Amino acid sequence: MTGFDPALAPRVLTDLPGPRSRELWERDAVHHASNSSPGAQWLGIVLQDGAGAVVRDVDDNLFVDFSSGAVVANVGHAPPAVRDALAGEASRLMHFFDFATPARAEFFESLARTLPPALQTFQMYSTGAEAVEAALRLAKSYTGKYEVMSFHQAWHGRTLGAMSLMGGFPLKQGYGPFAPGVLHSPNANCYRCPLDLDRDSCAVACTALVDRVYEQSSEQRLAAVIVEPVQGVGGVIPFPPEFLAHLRDLCDHTGALLIFDEILTGVGRTGPMWAFESSGVVPDVLLAGKGLAGGYPISLIASRREVLDAGPFGRPGAGASTFASGNLACAAGTAVLGMLADGEILANGRRVGAAMLAALHELADRHPIIGDVRGAGLLLALELVTDRAAKTPVTPDVARRLLTALARRGVLVAGAGAVLRITPPLVIDEAMALAGVAALDDALTEIEAA
Ligand SMILES: Cc1ncc(COP(=O)(O)O)c(C=O)c1O
Repeated sequence: MTGFDPALAPRVLTDLPGPRSRELWERDAVHHASNSSPGAQWLGIVLQDGAGAVVRDVDDNLFVDFSSGAVVANVGHAPPAVRDALAGEASRLMHFFDFATPARAEFFESLARTLPPALQTFQMYSTGAEAVEAALRLAKSYTGKYEVMSFHQAWHGRTLGAMSLMGGFPLKQGYGPFAPGVLHSPNANCYRCPLDLDRDSCAVACTALVDRVYEQSSEQRLAAVIVEPVQGVGGVIPFPPEFLAHLRDLCDHTGALLIFDEILTGVGRTGPMWAFESSGVVPDVLLAGKGLAGGYPISLIASRREVLDAGPFGRPGAGASTFASGNLACAAGTAVLGMLADGEILANGRRVGAAMLAALHELADRHPIIGDVRGAGLLLALELVTDRAAKTPVTPDVARRLLTALARRGVLVAGAGAVLRITPPLVIDEAMALAGVAALDDALTEIEAA
């Protein structure tokens, strides 16, 4: 049980980090490698508990969470239903490889109710990158081909196959050469249009760039197109439905599988349960992870049985992994899906998301540092620039100062670059969300003054 009242947030009682945080951070750092995320390193706070959209550090400071951690706490922090499900299941059986359990059967039935007929067969894993790797093996198995198309600014995880698919992130430097057979296509980035067109009149002309990459780089061996319907880590870039429909056509035409990586966009993050629902495009393969088990590690592939059965992927043991489809993940997943089943949390996410988006647009009227405001549901972002006309991105130092200025005002955000990601838990109440935006207003004024 958490021992604080979340309604008191934001409340920052000490300098950041506070004295207890400093002491524990130093103890931890004696053994922890120095590769924490920039936000964790910059703030140096040590967290002890959370409830709903609020987390508390060891100095009793209360932060409104505008990050959901790594976009995981969709149903809030320490949700009692998930806690109880985990405790109940753990008291019966902690783990027995990938054997069927009552918990798994129940989870699959709950999950199936959220998905269309084409996505009713599942294979589970533990992390997002693991599911991406499995999807690559699956596409090769099903099609007998080997090329995969992915997109500039795409993020699919930190294993080598997944990294091979990703856009030009600095963290790829030094790890090459990457897997061959990847066709990197320009993305539908409407703020930084690859064709320099205006969204109102472009007729989604960037689809021609996809075709050109295919024509010029493919040996007609396309196994899959993998895409995030809204690119998340790459900068919260929503793709127009026409762009996704074009990818559907390309796959239908070439026999490739259309894979939607919804590891970040799923579980209500963009408004509906799955982002593909807003596009009207149904993929052949859906990848889910992050918030699906409320913070317990989980990831999975959903597809048609004939796809998942294709060899060698479908052979006995081929999809196994020590912690894949464990009963604890399944119990937590069922609890999360139970929380979402009546639609109220999803509706709250859409309502608060719309209110925040409107408030962020108002901020853009007053803060020239805001180059663009975008997003869907509670996957929102500000792109920060030093010059609106030239769209020159701010330096990481500005991101750092903004992150710390916000934390001092009791709001935690993510994003170490020019794009400030705003992804609160879907359970956040509107007044708290708008108080967070007011803190952002204040923090931007401080940054601009400097
Ligand atoms: C779209 C997408 N795919 C895959 C991943 C990788 O997930 P994980 O970090 O759990 O391996 C992420 C992580 O941020 C993601 O956003």
